[in-house]
Amino acid sequence: MHRSEKIWLTLSFGMIMAFMIAAGYQTFALEMGPPSHEERIDPQKVDQTAPFDQPGIKQIGENEYEVVMTLQIFSFNPANIEIPAGAKVHFILTSKDVVHGFEIAGTNVNAMVMPGYVQKITQTFDEPGDYLVLCNEYCGAGHQVMSTTITVK
Ligand code: CUA
Repeated sequence: MHRSEKIWLTLSFGMIMAFMIAAGYQTFALEMGPPSHEERIDPQKVDQTAPFDQPGIKQIGENEYEVVMTLQIFSFNPANIEIPAGAKVHFILTSKDVVHGFEIAGTNVNAMVMPGYVQKITQTFDEPGDYLVLCNEYCGAGHQVMSTTITVK
């Protein structure tokens, strides 16, 4: 093999390794990877399956809440929730029928909520205000009216 060929091979292999180490460090050590969660549920039995048999808000820490929510055509249950400013909220979501979206305008929260799967996403609400929550997956004739708000005060 030609000498410069060896040099370039070594360099490019070294670069690939450096990128993989940097990406791995960010993902696992700095926890900067995209959130992911896989948990299944029988979409026919959402109402009978915990925690979705009791949708609602529950305080689980000093300013930490758990919101168990079902999405169905064309609503969010519970809707129009209120939380105090600075609250850290863990959303636990599933769909009772078709694919819906869960986007909180003005935040990074933007999740797909699929029947048969449990979606979990955490957000801290530092700024008081009314946050618009939208379904951003086309889910049928009433898709455009599927919205609610989260009031932070
Ligand atoms: Cu639900 Cu669009």
